[in-house]
Amino acid sequence: KKIMFVASEAVPFIKTGGLADVVGALPKCFDKEYFDVRVIIPKYQCMKEEFKNQLQYVAHFYMDIGYRNEYVGILELEYEGIHFYFIDNEYYFSGYRPYGDIRFDLEKFAFFSKAALSILPVIDFKPDIIHCHDWQTGLIPVYLKDQFQLGDFYREIKSVITIHNLRFQGTWDVKTVREITGLPDYFFTPDKLEAYKDANYLKGGIVFADAITTVSNTYAEEIKTEFYGEKLDGLLRARANSLRGIVNGIDYDEYNPATDPYITKTYDAKTFRKEKVKNKTALQRDLGLETDPKKMMIGVVSRLTDQKGFDLVSYIMDELCQDQVQIVILGTGEEHYENMFRHFAWKYNGKVSANIYYDEAMSHRIYASSDAFLMPSLFEPCGLSQLMSLRYGTLPIVRETGGLKDTVEPYNEFENSGTGFSFKNFNAHEMLATIRYAEKVYYDKKREWNKMVDRAMARDYSWNSSAKQYEEMYNWLIGY
Ligand code: ADP
Ligand code: GLC
Repeated sequence: KKIMFVASEAVPFIKTGGLADVVGALPKCFDKEYFDVRVIIPKYQCMKEEFKNQLQYVAHFYMDIGYRNEYVGILELEYEGIHFYFIDNEYYFSGYRPYGDIRFDLEKFAFFSKAALSILPVIDFKPDIIHCHDWQTGLIPVYLKDQFQLGDFYREIKSVITIHNLRFQGTWDVKTVREITGLPDYFFTPDKLEAYKDANYLKGGIVFADAITTVSNTYAEEIKTEFYGEKLDGLLRARANSLRGIVNGIDYDEYNPATDPYITKTYDAKTFRKEKVKNKTALQRDLGLETDPKKMMIGVVSRLTDQKGFDLVSYIMDELCQDQVQIVILGTGEEHYENMFRHFAWKYNGKVSANIYYDEAMSHRIYASSDAFLMPSLFEPCGLSQLMSLRYGTLPIVRETGGLKDTVEPYNEFENSGTGFSFKNFNAHEMLATIRYAEKVYYDKKREWNKMVDRAMARDYSWNSSAKQYEEMYNWLIGY
């Protein structure tokens, strides 16, 4: 069975968030005997330098995009057993970031979606299923239904769309999108691409895909409600029979405290009691925090947007900093959050460290060094950071939403169960109370804390079981 992933980012080539982790790791985890899974992504100018000159030229052609012919180059690289295809076009993919101006991005990903379909006959790969990810590839299921323009090669291809984040939908006025996409008029009605007078790429994907998935069970339920539905809850309720949640995993080779080359001292479930703390003291030294192996360190690695719940953090930061804790932040995003953390790092010098940049190695060091990891998201389709934390024996403190609810089991002191701490309402003092409860367990019941670390590290959030669920879905779609 042949599956083609199409996405806007994939590790290790280009990454802005969890989507790239998923698209880079999941294809490796299918049963190779039955599934040939390949991936198409753009060849961005800003992709990691080391890979650029490894890409092999395959072919090029010119594609009619309605108002002009555009160059489509195909490059290829086999990486860890997976065929990655890169679509080359300098006009669209030469920015210093994968995304920017939304109007241009809409044009960029209309081109990309069309090009991804056009290269299939050229690379001689006719997939049973095209698996699309997020709004950037939402047009693919739409184009697949536009058989007049596409021709026989595409007739039997099924499509799946995975929603990694419903917040971003790719919308613009109908007239412009009609021009950009070259789709016929009849697609632009409220039962198809139109939503609230605008044209909406993700909606197109949700309407026309043969199956819809999202990245946790709870999020699959949440998005059918008004609060989380981002105005598409009605459509998602209507398509509920074709919608399911499959929780994300993480790459267990990439994120492995026993072998991680980025961290100061490697450790595993047997040695963490002695070794994990060496990561903490090294990080304290490097970041200019008070060096104290006993001080509880709370880590944050995140895009700094309102999705991630930093409004709650800003409310209680002064109170929290009265406690015996250190707080280490790594993240970039909205300026007011960046400045908020810079401000607190200045105010609580030696106690708070704000690292406002993107750095893979530093992220690993924080997962390994921290005692707890804070992720109080307003909404969270899945979340990978809390899974990375669990893997490194760093206990997550999360809000009970989306994938956070499905993957972090709250501590229960009476039953000796749980792998982290959680709170329900999006309320700053509820969060603070939960952090303080964690502090209490950390300082007063170290044995209990360590047993929780044992349980966290023993959990399996590799891709194994989720990849099987995707396989089942593919089989069902293909009709096996
Ligand atoms: P999202 O996709 O919403 O950003 P996830 O938790 O699914 O959230 O994935 C975030 C990914 O991005 C994780 O791999 C995390 O380690 C990484 N990440 C986020 N911010 C940074 C940063 N500043 N530096 C390095 N890695 C980061
Ligand atoms: C999105 C979501 C995040 C999820 C990731 C990968 O970026 O915000 O929760 O883990 O996609 O699916």
